[in-house]
Amino acid sequence: MKNIAILASGSGSNAEEIVKYFKDSQKGKVVLIASNKKDAFVLQRAEKLKIPHFTFTKSELDSGKLVTKLQEAKVDWVVLAGFLLKIPANLIQAFPDSIVNIHPALLPKYGGKGMYGMHVHQAVREAGDTVSGITIHLVNEQYDEGKIIFQAAVPISAEDSPEDIAAKVHSLEYKYFPNVIESLL
Ligand code: GAR
Repeated sequence: MKNIAILASGSGSNAEEIVKYFKDSQKGKVVLIASNKKDAFVLQRAEKLKIPHFTFTKSELDSGKLVTKLQEAKVDWVVLAGFLLKIPANLIQAFPDSIVNIHPALLPKYGGKGMYGMHVHQAVREAGDTVSGITIHLVNEQYDEGKIIFQAAVPISAEDSPEDIAAKVHSLEYKYFPNVIESLL
């Protein structure tokens, strides 16, 4: 049984799906949810789901204090579910090939700094693309450039707003992310 930590900065709808999925898994369980944002809705979800949760600052992330906490909790895998800070080298070295991120587009398109959440869907809309999708990848020290594990695409129509695209992409995330994580464990 592998221990999973989820790092999230926002609403945490993916985090909630992952927690629910792993309640019935023989392979892993979510042992904690941590956020760099004190007011992130993901913390309320964690409370309701009865998952241990805490917040940390960017300097605690960069100094290695978060790594210590994850190691104390015997974490095996770190899942980034809408986590918006750059992952420092100390975290990558402590969890080699054991940090997985989901990106709400078909990388290498629409990756890199500043490309997160609705910014991605707005860029896809403005480019007039006819498909978008999700990319699940391992995390290295470059934003959105680690080894791609899984991608899924969804058609976009000319009438779709960025919010419509976000909803389509979220559906793909809920459908595939927990399952892909389980296959990695
Ligand atoms: C998700 O769509 C995720 O792919 C994206 O943030 C959203 C978080 O939603 N992540 C990124 O943009 C990372 N670059 P959620 O908080 O409801 O799970």
